[in-house]
Amino acid sequence: MRESDDDQTNARRLFPFAPRSDGGKRAPARKPLRKGFWWGTATAAHQIEGNNTNSDFWLAENVKPTLFQEPSLDACDSYHRYEEDIILAAKLGFNAHRFGIEWARIEPEPGKFSEAELDHYVRVMEACHAHGLAPVVTYSHWTVPRWFAAMGGFEHADSPALFARFAERATAKLGPLMAAASTFNEANIARVIQIRQEAKAIEPLVRAMLAACAKASGSDRFASVLFADLAKSEANQVRAHELAFDAIKAGPGDFPVGVTISMQDIQGVGEGNKADEIAQAVYGPWIAQAAKADFVGVQTYTRVRVDAKGIMPPPKGAELTAAGYEFYPEALEATIRYAAKMTGKPIYVTENGIGTDDDSRRIAYIDRALAGVRACIDDGIDVRGYLHWSLLDNYEWVFGYKQRFGLVAVDRTTFKRTPKPSALHLGARAKANRV
Ligand code: BGC
Repeated sequence: MRESDDDQTNARRLFPFAPRSDGGKRAPARKPLRKGFWWGTATAAHQIEGNNTNSDFWLAENVKPTLFQEPSLDACDSYHRYEEDIILAAKLGFNAHRFGIEWARIEPEPGKFSEAELDHYVRVMEACHAHGLAPVVTYSHWTVPRWFAAMGGFEHADSPALFARFAERATAKLGPLMAAASTFNEANIARVIQIRQEAKAIEPLVRAMLAACAKASGSDRFASVLFADLAKSEANQVRAHELAFDAIKAGPGDFPVGVTISMQDIQGVGEGNKADEIAQAVYGPWIAQAAKADFVGVQTYTRVRVDAKGIMPPPKGAELTAAGYEFYPEALEATIRYAAKMTGKPIYVTENGIGTDDDSRRIAYIDRALAGVRACIDDGIDVRGYLHWSLLDNYEWVFGYKQRFGLVAVDRTTFKRTPKPSALHLGARAKANRV
């Protein structure tokens, strides 16, 4: 469905994917968006719930050697404090809430499903509905049950059927409460990691960590979604997505199902640049999968410039975020255009954000990213929501608690939540329904 109330020209409607010719100048926020545009935040089970002890990551965080700077432990204790989080999000002005259901909790042993854990997520979703938030569910945000990793994860031939079985069981109970769902978070994440310059340097430690996990599990293997051997895992993961997609669509419940993709604005620099090659390496089969789903979840943080030699470092003097990448909120507009052009599907921005301890930079980032969303909508691209990463300062995977992406600070001892100015800023824009 397209925005119908905008004063755009027919020409732009015909060529919505072309870069704008206004030299980047943006009109100030205009008319509100159509009703039902989703405003909110995105979270992930392992990063906020705490004590996800049956997951592969929990083990990897706690073996020696490990790549993880610190273990997740209690995270934000959202497993117990989910209602407080949901009420906070609603009070800020949001109307949608992206979160993950944790496979490791729901299926603690192969084929054994925990009704009590499923009931937990029923309560989470009921709280969302009670407070006016549309529950946007991620079935798999990188973590898997420890038993699944120890049998080889998605490198195992049975993995598609096992993931689909989990999706079917979870949907049977939770489907009626969902507003939208995605199978995998950033299905292409292993590809993204593998093209990074640091990939080679960390490889020996990753191998040693996974070997320690295998040993601790009494297995000869241990496979992680992040560090998978794509030659063995990718076809299985694609099949797992397809089977899970069908299982979720079979219901109960009637809601859009998509897949989210880690997308960077891949910019070619100079003649003979390898931008297309890098795009192929980053996205692999996942754009085609998204084109078959109900929507694409665009997850964008920065740009990547590519010359004839490959990926370039950020420009000299560029502002870097705490995560080490370039502060470049305009990347979102480019990736929305790219996703729309390549898939023809509706877009939800399912993640976009910045790791920083300077909250004024988060506000600037949000405003510039939203200007790009507006430009896309003005051009007739079907963008249906903006879910900021993240609600809380949470467990940032291998970087532990040192990188802060939250609109809301979390005291590491008392778990007290304190909204930052950026939370109120984005909340105000959500209330006004203006990008
Ligand atoms: C992931 C999140 C992560 C965020 C910030 C995304 O790629 O989906 O889990 O915390 O980036 O690094």
